[in-house]
Amino acid sequence: MVSEMVPEQAAQVLVASNRGPVSYKLGEDGTLTAGRGGGGLVSGLSAIGPDTNAVWVCAALGDGDREAVRRTGGRLDTGDTGGQRVRMLGIPPEVYADAYNGVANSTLWFVHHLLYQTPLEPAFGTEFRAQWASYEAYNRAFAEALADEAGDGAAVLIQDYHLALVPGMLRALRPDLRIGHFSHTPWAPVDYFRLLPDDIARQLLRGILGADRAAFLTRRWADAFTACCTELLGGTGKTRIGVHGLGADADFLRERANRSDVEERLAELREQIGGTPEAPRRTIVRVDRTELSKNIVRGLYAYRQLLTERPEWRERVTHVAFAYPSRQDLAVYRDYTARVQEVADEINSEFGTPGWTPVVLHVKDDFARSLAAYRLADVALVNPIRDGMNLVAKEIPVISANGCALVLSREAGAYEELGEDALVVNPYDVTATAAALHEALTMDDDDRAARTKRLAAAATSLPPQQWFLDQLEALRTG
Ligand code: G6P
Repeated sequence: MVSEMVPEQAAQVLVASNRGPVSYKLGEDGTLTAGRGGGGLVSGLSAIGPDTNAVWVCAALGDGDREAVRRTGGRLDTGDTGGQRVRMLGIPPEVYADAYNGVANSTLWFVHHLLYQTPLEPAFGTEFRAQWASYEAYNRAFAEALADEAGDGAAVLIQDYHLALVPGMLRALRPDLRIGHFSHTPWAPVDYFRLLPDDIARQLLRGILGADRAAFLTRRWADAFTACCTELLGGTGKTRIGVHGLGADADFLRERANRSDVEERLAELREQIGGTPEAPRRTIVRVDRTELSKNIVRGLYAYRQLLTERPEWRERVTHVAFAYPSRQDLAVYRDYTARVQEVADEINSEFGTPGWTPVVLHVKDDFARSLAAYRLADVALVNPIRDGMNLVAKEIPVISANGCALVLSREAGAYEELGEDALVVNPYDVTATAAALHEALTMDDDDRAARTKRLAAAATSLPPQQWFLDQLEALRTG
């Protein structure tokens, strides 16, 4: 009876993710400074409004966060979080490092993005088993905190590969809850997923199947998950499988991209690109975390091939490449970052002239500068080896001033929605990528403008707020 009297919309919502909406820096004098995160989840959650008693459970990521947890008991000051109730978990640093660096980023991320290649081989010996125990402990800490925070019949939305075991653990503690799991990554094809030890592969699948609903960014990833469940467990049981594509936040982007800090960066970038009003230079833009799956080095090789084979482009085009640091605790990421820098330097010394820098590479994260680059892009290069969605491919067409040709990997989730109006490439095929760059640079203006318009419409059809509400609705009505 109670459930009939209380409107469904009023049920409490909890979100769980490794990275929360706020992170703290610890100053030398002991002061804590809160920095707020952006991203789809933050804007998505805002759609349910301020009065819903929502709680976001996340992990303390570094020293600043751990100190904040020590001072607050983990229930953070809402002044720091933009009004959001946040419960931050102070996982012991060694457990956290094993779970996050060892299992989540060095293993599960590699499996779902098909990143193993000699000498980066899967390793499942005693070190991995110890890391796995940490991953279980880290997942258990989330399940216990969620069980503790959730009111009767609350809806819980658990995010990503870091927390694959949480749905099953939480179900055992609190059978009354509605539990959803969402994967922001691709899901590995079954033969590749089976690189994992069988017991661990099953545990991961059973963990997610503890949810009432497991959702993915595209049908392709959802089908891959279902195939793994069928092969290893005989099926998905009672868990429903859903798909919710995440789109760009058009209103936010358009407003943000016209602020004065973006204008300043635009002027700086124009200076770095060079060219004259009579002979303006074309720009090929890419913006990524420095991440192996983003395939930045092959993108640079393709650009080098373009300049080698089609000398007419020399001095007439600039590759603006932003590669922001990511997961620098892992040696393989540090090596990759160095390689990106090295190849960019090689191209600049091979082709550069006193008035032209062929690759303008920036590695310091700067959102305003990214938006400035989006605005002046003639060509966007998005060539990941594999990517859950890739929001850059969706954001650039929304605010590109001139219209922008999109060179897009068929292995990005965004391909399902944008493939028709993009120049689609196999991300391993450097020759085809170089040819696509040439085609993009020579695209007829009207064609480019028409494609950009259609790309922007497709890219914004599911803004983060809608994406979030759709999941909640599907979880409640199932
Ligand atoms: C990307 C992926 C997410 C993932 C995140 C983690 O954004 O799309 O699935 O959660 O990376 O990145 P981090 O910097 O927290 O390791």
